Amino acid sequence: MTYIQGDPALYPIDWSPDKIQEFKQTLLSWYDATKRDLPWRNTNDPYKIWVSEIMLQQTQVITVIPYYERFIETLPTIQDLAQADEDVLLSLWQGLGYYSRVRNMQVAAKQVMENFHGEMPRTMKELLTLKGIGPYTAAAIGSIAFGLVEPAIDGNLMRVTARLFELEADIAQVKSRKLFAAILYQLIDSNRPGDFNQALMDLGATIMTPANLTPEANPLKAFDQSYQNGTAHLYPVKKKKTKATQHQLLAYIVQDSQGDWLVRKHEEGELLTGLWHFPMIEQTLVMEAASAEELVEPFKDWWSEQLDATDVEKTIDLEETGFAINQQLMPFGDVEGTTLLPIVKHVFSHRIWHLQLVPIIMTGIETLPFDSELMRWQKPKEIRDLPVSTLQQKLLLALENYL
Ligand code: ADE
Repeated sequence: MTYIQGDPALYPIDWSPDKIQEFKQTLLSWYDATKRDLPWRNTNDPYKIWVSEIMLQQTQVITVIPYYERFIETLPTIQDLAQADEDVLLSLWQGLGYYSRVRNMQVAAKQVMENFHGEMPRTMKELLTLKGIGPYTAAAIGSIAFGLVEPAIDGNLMRVTARLFELEADIAQVKSRKLFAAILYQLIDSNRPGDFNQALMDLGATIMTPANLTPEANPLKAFDQSYQNGTAHLYPVKKKKTKATQHQLLAYIVQDSQGDWLVRKHEEGELLTGLWHFPMIEQTLVMEAASAEELVEPFKDWWSEQLDATDVEKTIDLEETGFAINQQLMPFGDVEGTTLLPIVKHVFSHRIWHLQLVPIIMTGIETLPFDSELMRWQKPKEIRDLPVSTLQQKLLLALENYL
């Protein structure tokens, strides 16, 4: 995982240095007066803080406490964790759920033994090399155990920050993290970064909650733009992810009489612009039930459209061009009835393509019957020499034995 430090220039806040100072003081005084006495708050041991942070990722504080105490009692050091039997680990975790968390933690403990002489590393960059430790956990451990000046950006910190500045950034998007980091780097107390983070976590968990039931109790209300404007309920902005749509496509492996395959470059406005692919045609046919003939038909129509679209006088009559299922590639399918060709799945952010490979042979064709920068016949082994997408690479991989 690469470590990207927040860049304050992304969102310079318009608070004076005095106001920033006052903000930190207000927050930390509130924390000192009200902080919960939690067992992992009485230690600087990075291992213990790590265990608590992993447990707290998907589980409430009140549930975590007894688990945490039993875990630390049974496995008091990183070395103990690295050497623990799996059934011991699982029994310690039983009831917390998401067992991969504890499995990853053991992998990371072994990494610490092997790569860091058994001592928890003390930099963000090194912490991020450990299995299961992402930017949030690295910053939480780093700030609480080692005093690294790093905001630990979780849902609570994002909600609090979004309300303070009435931020419109969508917290469902990973890229918004940079904006929150930019702001929090300007606010974080460099003498007490761990307390600063935990103060914001507590504030987000108890007062600046999603429901915001006690706005008057907010110690930061003088700094809170959303409180001043009565807009707290609008923040943070979290856009619902629209469900990805499913699309069926036919991807044609069209072979000419010389054994070359037809490829085309995707144009502006298409997905995967500028990259070379087999001709692909979206269609609604139920592919599992399609006959060989039905699978060839959409390509014939498309080819005919390509010819119609050219100004060049047609030298080749469509009638002279033959289209047949490529028998050589037919181990993929069953010409007689339903097809057995592999279906390749490709996921974009909002659409999922299911591509059925259809191998066909075109006869009566030597060269492209029209000028085109966007289409060419290419030797199968040389398709990868063109700029191709990962999708096209997946399609080629499915054909690997036939290249
Ligand atoms: N949630 C995650 N880490 C926490 C911590 N250190 N204190 C309180 N709540 C937390």
